[in-house]
Amino acid sequence: MSKRKILVTSALPYANGSIHLGHLVEYIQTDIWVRFQKMRGHTVHYVCADDTHGTPIMLRAEKEGITPEALIARVHSEHFGDFTGFHIQFDNYYSTHSPETRHFSEDIYGKLKSAGLIAVRGIEQLYDPVKNMFLPDRFVKGECPKCGAKDQYGDSCEVCGAAYAPTELKNPYSAVSGAKPVNKSSEHYFFSLSDARCADFLRQWACDGDHLQPEAANKMREWVGEAGENKLSDWDISRDAPYFGFEIPGAAGKYFYVWLDAPIGYMGSFKNLCEREKIQFDDYWQPQSDAELYHFIGKDILYFHALFWPAMLKNAGYRTPTKIFAHGFLTVNGEKMSKSRGTFITAESYLKQGLNPEWLRYYYAAKLNSTLEDIDLNLDDFVARVNSDLVGKFINIASRCAGFITKRFDGKLVEGEQYRALQTMVDEHFASWRPEAIEQAFEAREFSTAIRQVMKFADEANEMIHHLAPWEIAKQPDRTDDLHRACSLGIQLFYLLARYLKPILPGTVQQIEAFLNCEPLTWPQLRADQPVSALLLPAGHAINPYQHLMTRIDNKQIDALIAANTQSLTAPPPQSPARHAEKQQHAVAPIAETISIDDFSKIDLRIAKIVNAEHVQGAEKLLKLTLDIGSEQRTVFAGIKSAYDPEQLKGRLTVMVANLAPRQMKFGLSEGMVLAAGGGNPGELFILSPDSGAQPGMRVK
Ligand code: 2FM
Ligand code: ZN
Repeated sequence: MSKRKILVTSALPYANGSIHLGHLVEYIQTDIWVRFQKMRGHTVHYVCADDTHGTPIMLRAEKEGITPEALIARVHSEHFGDFTGFHIQFDNYYSTHSPETRHFSEDIYGKLKSAGLIAVRGIEQLYDPVKNMFLPDRFVKGECPKCGAKDQYGDSCEVCGAAYAPTELKNPYSAVSGAKPVNKSSEHYFFSLSDARCADFLRQWACDGDHLQPEAANKMREWVGEAGENKLSDWDISRDAPYFGFEIPGAAGKYFYVWLDAPIGYMGSFKNLCEREKIQFDDYWQPQSDAELYHFIGKDILYFHALFWPAMLKNAGYRTPTKIFAHGFLTVNGEKMSKSRGTFITAESYLKQGLNPEWLRYYYAAKLNSTLEDIDLNLDDFVARVNSDLVGKFINIASRCAGFITKRFDGKLVEGEQYRALQTMVDEHFASWRPEAIEQAFEAREFSTAIRQVMKFADEANEMIHHLAPWEIAKQPDRTDDLHRACSLGIQLFYLLARYLKPILPGTVQQIEAFLNCEPLTWPQLRADQPVSALLLPAGHAINPYQHLMTRIDNKQIDALIAANTQSLTAPPPQSPARHAEKQQHAVAPIAETISIDDFSKIDLRIAKIVNAEHVQGAEKLLKLTLDIGSEQRTVFAGIKSAYDPEQLKGRLTVMVANLAPRQMKFGLSEGMVLAAGGGNPGELFILSPDSGAQPGMRVK
C-alpha cells in the first residue's frame, strides 16, 4: 500500500461561544477518520483553529470590558480543553488572529487583485449614528415587514420565516445602542465571483468534479447555474472600521470580512505546524500537489467552502480541495437543541458531570454516515446502546475471561498445540472477521456500517464464549486446558475487536493496550491469502491483570446533565412555604477540577459531636457550635441558622474539617468548619451525619 499525504481540517469554531454537542458531531467525525488513516500508516496532519474575527467578537469583548485579544486567548484555551477532553487530537489548534493567516490573507488578496478579480464599489448600509459603526444584519432589529412581529433580526423573521434585507424592517433599531439606524454609503471591496474565470471554474469543479457529495453537488448546480446564466454575484469581502480583523493592504479603515480569512486560517494553522515540525508547506498547497486535502464542515457553510474558497484558491495559484465532506445537524430527542429544555449541552458540562466522552464518540459513530442527513442524539437510545453494545458486548468479553488467565495461568495465553487449536478455531468460526469491509466503511465515512459490522463480530464472540462457558469449566478440575483455551480465545477475540474500535475509542483502547501488554495497535494488514488467525497475539503471550475499563451509563447521570444545562427563560416562581416538602430538581453544580489523593489527604476530616449549639447575638446567619472531637473541644461558628434550630443539633454527630486555620470572626474565634450540602436557598442546607457507630475524633477518609 502506498503511503498517502493527507491534510485534514474541521471548521473553525467562533471564538465567542462554547463548544456544544452539536459542534462535536463534526470534530468527532473528523477525529475518527484521521485516527483511522493514521492507524493505517498514512501521513496525516489534522489542523484547526479558532475563528477569531468579526463584529460579534469585537462587541462581546467590549461588553466584557476586555480587549478582543484577551477574549480570544481565553476562549482558545476553553475550546482546546473541551476538544482534548473528547480526545480530539489536532496536530495543531491555532488561531486565525495569527501572522501566518494575515500573511496568506494578504497574499491571496494581492494575487486576486493582480488578476483583476477585486472590484471596488460604493454600497449603502444601515449605520448606527450613536455607536458610529455599520451594522451587520444580525445587529439590526425591528418589525418583520411581512408579519409585523416585533424584535426580529435584520435578515429573517423567527416568527413567519420570511427572509428580507435589513433596510426592509419597519421601525428598525440598532441592537448595539438602540439608536435608529441611518442609511450611509461607503466603498466596499468585492471578489468578482461573477467573472467567467470563477463561474466557469466552479461549474466544472463544484458541479461536475468529484469533489462534493451528490446532494452538495446538486445544490451547487442550483447556485452556479448553467453557462451563460450568470447566477453568481460578486462577494463583498470588506468591512469598515471599527472591526476586529486584518486591515486590507492599501485600504486604510477597511478590513477583510471574517469569512475571507476564516478558511485561510486552515493554511495559517498548517503553516504554523510546518514551521514547528519541518514539513514542506508547498508540498501540500502548490497546484500540482499530490497530497490530499479534505475539509469536514457542516452543511450550512457549504456555500463558503464549495464556491468562494476553491475560486479564491484557484485564482491565487494554489491547489484546491480534494473533497469537501459536509455533514448534517444534530438534534436531541428529535428536536433542535434547546436551552430551556436543557438539551443545548455544552462539551464542558458533559465532561464536568463526569460522563465518559467515549460514550458520545461511540454513539455518534453508530449514527454517522457519509450523507448530509441530520443525526439525532436520542438520550434513551444513547444510554441503551452504550450499555448494551459497548459495555455489554465488547468490554464484557475481557472482563469475563481475563480473571481466569491471571489467576489460573499466570497471565499467559495458550501456546504450542493449544495455540494451534485456537488458531484453527478462529479460522473455522471467525473467518469473516477480516478487516477489509470495516476498512472500506471507515474510509468512506460510513461509520455506522463499520460499527454494525464490529458489533456483529462481538455478538459472535459472545455466543462462542457463552457456548464454551469458561465459568462452568472452571469448576471442573480436569478441564484446565479447556479453560485455558476458552479464555485465551476470548482475549484474542477481544484484541481483534479493539483494533477495529480504536479510531472511535482511543482512550479505552490505550488502556486495553496496557492490559493486553501489546504495542500500540495499528490497522490490521491482512493479505488475501492470509487467514484471520494471522492477526492474533503470539502464542504464550502474557497479559496484565484486568482493570476496570468502562462503566455503564446511569440514567441519573443524564438527568443531571440536562438539569445542569437547563436555563429558565422566565424569572423563577416565588417560593411557597410548602416548597421544601416537594421533590425538587436541582441544577447540579459542575464537578470541580480534579485533585490528587495527596491533595485530598491534606484535609483532616473528623467525626465531631455537637455538645452545644446556640444563637449568636447580632448574627444573622450563624450558630455557635461546641464540638467534641475526642481529644479536645472546638468552637465553630457555622452559617446554618436558616436551616437548624440549635436545640435540634445538640447531641448529634457530624463531620468537621479539623485542620482548617482558625479564623477570627466578629463574634469570636472559629476553630474549624462543619460540612453541609446545599446552601443555595434558605432552608436548603443539610449538615452531614455519619452512620451509627462512628465515634467523635474518628478520621474521615
Ligand atoms: O460557521 C462557523 O462556525 C465558522 N466559524 C466556520 C469557519 S470554517 C472555516 F472556513 F474557517
Ligand atoms: Zn414575520
